[in-house]
Amino acid sequence: MALPWTEKYRPTSVKGFVDNGKALRQLDEWLTSWTRGKPRKKAAFLHGPPGVGKTVCVEVLAEAHDFDLISLDASNWRTKSALERIVGAASRQRPLIGAKERLIVLDELEGMSGSQDRGGLSTIARLTKTTGCPMVLIANDVWNPRFSNLRNSCLVIKFQRVPVRSIVAHLRGICVKEDLLAEEEALRLIADRAKGDLRSAMTDLQALSQGKSFLAYEDVHWLGNRDRKEAIFTVLGRVFKAETCWEARRAVEVADVDYEMLFEWIYENTPHQLSNIEDLNDALNALSRADIYFRRVRTFQAWKLLKYAFDQMTAGVAMARKKSPRRWVSFKFPQRISVMSRTRRTRRLRKELGLKLGATLHMGADSVVRDVLPYLRIMFANDDAAATKMMDAFDLDETLIASLRDSGG
Ligand SMILES: Nc1ncnc2c1ncn2[C@@H]1O[C@H](COP(=O)(O)OP(=O)(O)OP(=O)(O)O)[C@@H](O)[C@H]1O
Ligand SMILES: [Mg+2]
Repeated sequence: MALPWTEKYRPTSVKGFVDNGKALRQLDEWLTSWTRGKPRKKAAFLHGPPGVGKTVCVEVLAEAHDFDLISLDASNWRTKSALERIVGAASRQRPLIGAKERLIVLDELEGMSGSQDRGGLSTIARLTKTTGCPMVLIANDVWNPRFSNLRNSCLVIKFQRVPVRSIVAHLRGICVKEDLLAEEEALRLIADRAKGDLRSAMTDLQALSQGKSFLAYEDVHWLGNRDRKEAIFTVLGRVFKAETCWEARRAVEVADVDYEMLFEWIYENTPHQLSNIEDLNDALNALSRADIYFRRVRTFQAWKLLKYAFDQMTAGVAMARKKSPRRWVSFKFPQRISVMSRTRRTRRLRKELGLKLGATLHMGADSVVRDVLPYLRIMFANDDAAATKMMDAFDLDETLIASLRDSGG
């Protein structure tokens, strides 16, 4: 599998944005109003179902308005002091003369939960009223009671599911670029099944057309209208019940989750599914090889290695079963879902951070990332005074500090 199409065809400008025109316009007008002084609502709250362009919309508009985008994944911004230090500082200080205006984005706000984060949410609520630069919050469900304070202080912008017609048109455009001939009904079925989620439609098209130059309705019709939540169990069944390598490898193609998530599911369930200790040993060996490949894919962007990782985590695990009986054992939810799907942006920022620190420390960027960042991260999380000192010593701006906090895994 090559670069994920959701990344490859991620719009870089407003022109590439599909549908949700009203939301785009509202956000655009609100950002424009900042050039005439502070608008009454200093924060916007974007909400809507997954994969409809909430994150992308902010990215393309930040580009169009020439804002410096400071993007934080709220699940990594748990504590009040961290929010106060990074977001608070960025929203108070004026940027240097000649520097770009800032736009702060707190994405995936639902990542915050539990009592520990309540302080964080009330800090965000306060910042939405006092911020000196535009602030955008993003979550799937604005009606979540935890967000009630935020609803009042923010301009609420709703994103809708992308209509089937627009999804089909978008998929058709990708087919042309990929030199892929696809039957109209095939695209329509994929689009229908995505239930308005453009991202999952693109992922499905890529998975289903892998290694093909022609995609027929027959290639996709068996997918039917699966429930997305059930899909993962079907996929795991394919891996753990497979009698041939081929059957096991198909699991990757039909998975509704990204491959790192699929790895987590397989990893979590392997010890429960393979009761014989030697089988388990072989399966875990296969998974460790898959893990090594994934790491190389991520580190060196070596996408062509992805297929070996897939083979190891599916066929490798399936063929490890020699003595374990094929009994029915229920599947478990993965426990360690944290280091998921690193975005390209995070990787780039991490590299930038490595280069910057490396210049002062006289080290290569990669060794900074490997040997220094893990310790800096811990210091940042636990010692405010040290964090401030480091910010000064290394001359880090907010974006880099954010990526430092984000550079785990
Ligand atoms: N309206 C859109 N126009 C163009 N591409 C889109 C659109 N919506 C989604 N995509 C594609 O899907 C991918 C994911 O979109 P995005 O991250 O903006 O979704 P989201 O609405 O933020 O979802 P989530 O709620 O899961 O964060 C993008 O990289 C892009 O390729
Ligand atoms: Mg998003």
